Amino acid sequence: MFKSEVYTKRREELHKKLRTGLALFIGNTEAPLNYPANTYHFRQDSDFLYFFGHDIPGFAGLMDFDSGKDWIFGNDTDMEDIIWMGPQPTVKDLALKCGIADTAPMMKLEEVIKDALSKKRKVHFLPPYRGETKMTLGLILKENPCQMKTLASVELIKAVISMRSIKEKIEIEEIEKAVDIAYEMHVTSMKMCKQGVKEQDIFGTIEGIALAKGGGTSFPIILSVNGQTLHNHAHGNVLKKGKMMVTDAGAETNLHYASDITRTTPVGGKFSQQQKDIYEIVLKANTEAIKVAKPGISNRDLHFMACKIIATEMKELGLMKGDVDEAVAAGAHALFMPHGLGHMMGLDVHDMEALGEDYIGYNDEVKRSKQFGTSFLRFALPYKPGHVFTVEPGCYFIPELIDMWKAEGKFKDFINYSKLAAFLPIGGIRIEDDVLITEKGNKVLGKPIPKTVKEVEATCS
Ligand code: GLY
Ligand code: MN
Ligand code: MN
Repeated sequence: MFKSEVYTKRREELHKKLRTGLALFIGNTEAPLNYPANTYHFRQDSDFLYFFGHDIPGFAGLMDFDSGKDWIFGNDTDMEDIIWMGPQPTVKDLALKCGIADTAPMMKLEEVIKDALSKKRKVHFLPPYRGETKMTLGLILKENPCQMKTLASVELIKAVISMRSIKEKIEIEEIEKAVDIAYEMHVTSMKMCKQGVKEQDIFGTIEGIALAKGGGTSFPIILSVNGQTLHNHAHGNVLKKGKMMVTDAGAETNLHYASDITRTTPVGGKFSQQQKDIYEIVLKANTEAIKVAKPGISNRDLHFMACKIIATEMKELGLMKGDVDEAVAAGAHALFMPHGLGHMMGLDVHDMEALGEDYIGYNDEVKRSKQFGTSFLRFALPYKPGHVFTVEPGCYFIPELIDMWKAEGKFKDFINYSKLAAFLPIGGIRIEDDVLITEKGNKVLGKPIPKTVKEVEATCS
């Protein structure tokens, strides 16, 4: 974890923002896989990590905005725990590491909250996303556990988002480390992308790199020759020449900061002319968008800029037609790029998504579009220095979507359906980088990962 001052300072800032009531942060517990003692890989709650730092299951943090006091609730280990897990630090020692002097056993938490509620004090909490946390909150707050998400504090959600959105220097250093692990994962994936190799071999090898160099992957690896399926988690294919392989993979550092990178590689390492044609379009959307990302410009502006590049170039190739601005305004480009350009990234790969996407990327003035494609944009607001975003345009040939739109005659003035069949073998191409917004522009984080046709081909050879 970081030094104790980091957590003290963050909590002090939250105290200034909320001023009254209490905020309860329930850390994650172990989640059983197939029987209670055989658990999934433990992942701490990101807000608990942000304010209290500890990567240990079974703790809770409490902030009292009226008294200014912070607490850690947790249980000291007994001899049985020591026999199985070895000696563990006391709750007192752990609390001091995040700048907190006051501790109590978990059992005491219910009593403290009961006392606060009896005095009609507000108990703020963030929307829980795990059943276990919902049950604990329901028990402590005497509410229906199924209602805990809707009862979460909007004031606390907004305050936390305002803090976590702007990354501190130490956080950016962590994200750069995570991108550097992703560098190793992606270069390995490119080198292994050869005829006859199984997707599973590459998937397992690069997952191993994430575990060997950091805290594992930041999300389940997407690795497939069927890149037209955006989040394809099946890895059963054997690579064949003529296909493109999408690798969308990132790592967490040991402190749980994420990276999220996508590269697309032709099987065998050499692009055909048709593969190159589509690849260069996606690459242009990626690099041109990165060139203009800076404070004041919004992620929605950048999204539409990338969509217009894709539509313009698809028209050049003869796959689209008509007026590009009209086509993009109508949403015709979404046949090829049905997702948003990018999302915030930090302690979560889709940063703070558990707090509610619309609180992060939208507000009273900027509302989410209902149009297919644009509706998947996770963030529409202007960039600020300290934001970390992914820039991830893509171009996909999704047979089922093409067939449906064609049968409906949808956007027939903008799309040359008769030309699309020849491009179906491409599947999908996505190129994704992680970008820090600076005072004047931006910085692509981490060691540059091969991206141009030349760089990818050189890496593969
Ligand atoms: N890793 C999924 C995404 O790019 O958002
Ligand atoms: Mn990704
Ligand atoms: Mn992403």
